[in-house]
Amino acid sequence: MTTNNVPTYRAVLIGLGGIGGMRAATAAGSAETYGPMPQSHAEAYQRHPQANLTAVCDLRPEALEQFRENWKDVWPDLRTYTDAKQMLAEESPDLVSVVTSDHAHANLVVDAAQTESVRAILCEKPIATTLADADRMIEATAEAGVLLSIEHTRRWDAQHSEAKRLLASGELGPVRTIHAELYSQRAMLFRNGTHQIDLINYFADGDPAWVVAELEEGFDHYTEYQGDGGKDPDSEPYASAYIRYDNGVRAFYNTYKTDFPGSQIVVTCEAGRLEMSDRHGRVIRGASHFEWSSTDLVAGSLMYERIVGALHELIHTLEHGGTLVSDGAEGRKTLEVILAIMASHEAGNSRVDLPLAP
Ligand SMILES: NC(=O)c1ccc[n+]([C@@H]2O[C@H](COP(=O)([O-])OP(=O)(O)OC[C@H]3O[C@@H](n4cnc5c(N)ncnc54)[C@H](O)[C@@H]3O)[C@@H](O)[C@H]2O)c1
Repeated sequence: MTTNNVPTYRAVLIGLGGIGGMRAATAAGSAETYGPMPQSHAEAYQRHPQANLTAVCDLRPEALEQFRENWKDVWPDLRTYTDAKQMLAEESPDLVSVVTSDHAHANLVVDAAQTESVRAILCEKPIATTLADADRMIEATAEAGVLLSIEHTRRWDAQHSEAKRLLASGELGPVRTIHAELYSQRAMLFRNGTHQIDLINYFADGDPAWVVAELEEGFDHYTEYQGDGGKDPDSEPYASAYIRYDNGVRAFYNTYKTDFPGSQIVVTCEAGRLEMSDRHGRVIRGASHFEWSSTDLVAGSLMYERIVGALHELIHTLEHGGTLVSDGAEGRKTLEVILAIMASHEAGNSRVDLPLAP
């Protein structure tokens, strides 16, 4: 369909938890023109001028009812389903968001990819919880020529995008080491750790070659995903790991369940260093041991950021071609590091070489 000479795309959303369906409280009508950054897929579809959400799906009828109530002024004719396959068949969407829990992405992505009308899928992170599932998703989308983007949100925020640009410019020289930390009661390996591991992969710009790691005490049984979809922090361990990349980058992933919440990542290069947290970023350049300059990492702001940035990139890539910043292969790379961390712990904290057997 085309409106004002701009093509619009039929979209559907599967999974109506917070990140799927939440609507932030804003002054009436303000969200269409200004207001806070979209925090959910529904808000991203509301804001993007080329997306038209026609239907949503959840296994829980009460989630559908709540969604309909929350969004009735925006989408009065929205249709609701409890069966995703039925929705895909009846709605003929172009775009599909998969926002179900971590271990419930694969079948839905495969079903969406095999739906004739579908051209692009935005799937929440982590891509999956097993390599077999990730491979099914990548194969099904590749076979159908459908774009697959994994929503590791920080790849579309202004600060981390600017950091990536600065590193790629060569101004700071080659990356040597990366230290990523995550501390909060939700420092869970799959659910939240995936963001930090994904950032390490993003900045390392190579392939992980081997890993040595230790899980939280009391998690010796954790040899495969045993989480509850990311609800209870006790259902997933925190971890510490050393990740060696094929291009020589040495990375450290260190997390702990603390009351003090936060995360940071430090990228040290041959001629400078980037220090970034969720609050602040700075660039350090050193002329000697005694003279360091420190400036803010000035990121400006992006027209489309975070989830709506991911959606915008998908639509832009559909129309103009190009490579997605977080495609299925990138999502799989992050999952493989998570699984290697578990495998190293299981093997008595010894070195695990990648690639892992699927
Ligand atoms: N990118 C981010 O920053 C970010 C933030 C929060 C959550 N997430 C991710 O988003 C995903 C969802 O998280 P959540 O906290 O909203 O989960 P949730 O468990 O609260 O909600 C998931 C919803 O999906 C529904 N569902 C499950 N299987 C379904 C199926 N086959 N068909 C239809 N509906 C189905 C459930 O009924 C539930 O309502 C997870 O993968 C999580 O890691 C990402």
